[in-house]
Amino acid sequence: MFIKHSTIERNTILLTALALITVAIGGLVEIVPLFTIETTIERVEGVRPYSPLELAGRNIYIREGCYLCHSQQIRPLRDEVERYGHYSLAAESMYDHPFQWGSKRTGPDLARVGGKYSNEWQVAHLKDPRAVVPESIMPPYAFLAEKSLDYGDIADHLKTLRLVGVPYSDEMIADARADLEAQATPDADIEALLQRYPKAATGDFDGNPERLTELDALVAYLQMLGRLVEFDKTQPGSLRQ
Ligand code: HEC
Repeated sequence: MFIKHSTIERNTILLTALALITVAIGGLVEIVPLFTIETTIERVEGVRPYSPLELAGRNIYIREGCYLCHSQQIRPLRDEVERYGHYSLAAESMYDHPFQWGSKRTGPDLARVGGKYSNEWQVAHLKDPRAVVPESIMPPYAFLAEKSLDYGDIADHLKTLRLVGVPYSDEMIADARADLEAQATPDADIEALLQRYPKAATGDFDGNPERLTELDALVAYLQMLGRLVEFDKTQPGSLRQ
């Protein structure tokens, strides 16, 4: 056996060929099983696609480049978990195209900012960050309160996301505009909306019920971040389904 091995070791071409075969077998054993499973992401109860209004808000978040200063990924390190809450699960961003994990934290992580503040606080802060956090270096976004939300093409956004695997149903796409309006209108009939998008926060978000603005959508998005999975009800290890 060792004598044969010394033959291999003295013949560089043979050694290279056999090393390649060995590495290829190792690679196949690791990679091929992944093709047979649908996803490597653990399914987690509560995770759902964005409602049309939240999605419109997310588009504004991306358009304004909020991700350049804010991450949305809590790492499983003690200091992060103590500051921001339970570390992020892969499933929580499985419907994000593109994901908003970010790579820089000039401001705090926003993965669980939903419900941390009231709508009023979010609005005051976005209009003029230094009015509520005097030392803030975040730029003001007051113009969002003046811009009507342009959502004529919202159904197309849902359709496009469906192409890349987000499970929007035909019904969700057909009712996208109505759902968007219902979520942002105080006292609207929200039964169908909540059935499709459980836990969606509803009502007026920007303090001006007369108008549906970009600020409404952005605040609706911020207020749902990190709220879909109920960690106090989910025991560690029980995430697997
Ligand atoms: C130039 C960097 C920068 C940009 C761009 C920026 N922020 Fe911030 N943001 C900060 C900083 C710094 C803070 C911390 C101070 C404060 O609360 O204002 C912050 C705080 C926040 C908070 C409060 C978080 C908490 O847990 O207290 C929210 C919410 C927020 N930003 C949302 C946004 C949104 C939405 C956008 C895009 C429309 C945005 N930010 C753009 C720097 C930025």
